[in-house]
Parts: sequence; C-alpha cells; structure tokens
Amino acid sequence: MSNSKSNNSILNEKFVLELNAALAMENAGLERLQTRIQETTLPGIKQQLEHHLQETKEHQKRLQQLIIEMGGQATQEKLGLPLPKFPKDMLEMMNNTLTQEELDLKKTEEDLIIENAELGCYHMLIEKAKVAGGQFQAAESVLSLNIQDEAKMRDWIWSNTSKMLRQLQS
Ligand SMILES: [Fe+2]
Repeated sequence: MSNSKSNNSILNEKFVLELNAALAMENAGLERLQTRIQETTLPGIKQQLEHHLQETKEHQKRLQQLIIEMGGQATQEKLGLPLPKFPKDMLEMMNNTLTQEELDLKKTEEDLIIENAELGCYHMLIEKAKVAGGQFQAAESVLSLNIQDEAKMRDWIWSNTSKMLRQLQS
C-alpha cells in the first residue's frame, strides 16, 4: 500500500518535471517570438506571430497553474530551442547570397521546426497523461488546449508558405 503511494508520488514528480520542461520550452518560445516580431518584414507573418505570442502567454499560464496544482514549482527558465546549426562556411554563404526577405523566410522555416518540436513535446505528454490515468487526466485536457494552438500555428505556416514565396518574387 505504502509502496504504491510512493510510486504514485514518484510518477507525479516525474510528470511535474516534464511539465516544467514544456514550460521552459514555452518560455524560450515566447522570447523568440518577440524577437521574430521585431525582425520580420514579411507581410502577414508578423500578425500571425503576434497572435501566437498571445497564445504562448496562455500556454505558460495553463502550465504554471497545472504545475502548482500538482504540487510543483513553475520554472522561469528557458531551454535551448531545437534550431539548426549550419556549418560556418555554409552560414556565411547564406548570409552573403540570400536577400533579407529570403533570410526572413529561412527564419519562418525555423518557426516551423519549433512548432513541430512543441507538437512532439505535447503529444508525448498527453499520451503519458492518458496512460497514467487517475489524477493525470486533468493534465490531459489542459495540454490538449496547448497542442491545438501549436497545430494551428504549424498549419498556418505550412499553408502560407507558397503565398510568402510568391510575394518574394513579385
Ligand atoms: Fe508554439
């Protein structure tokens, strides 16, 4: 009996840790979105990034609340985002040959990578909450709200890519 209780608290601790990892991802994502909004000159994307910035703030709040409800402490730390690190000479060549707009679109490609990483993170967490059942079911519904926004953002970039490319050519 006491064994199953301690197993449950270990499971809880691990889950809170993973929720904090997701929060650290959102914290880093928020900072990047702010930079992207400042830098981008591509029409349309700025507005969409601003929209997703508001969603990201909601994601943080939901995760913070969930972590506290589960007896944890919400982190303010940021993780390193999964962005490509190009070889030095390749990066130099990109910076020298691509136009400002093309480099901007390259950043949009990175936005897509980040959204997909966020989707992966939430997918794993939701599946873990489902399998764990019990008290973790509350987490499942909260995480589902976040994953929906990530999917919408990913789909927006995906479906607007050709439009952005055509705008670059005109
Ligand atoms: Fe996102």
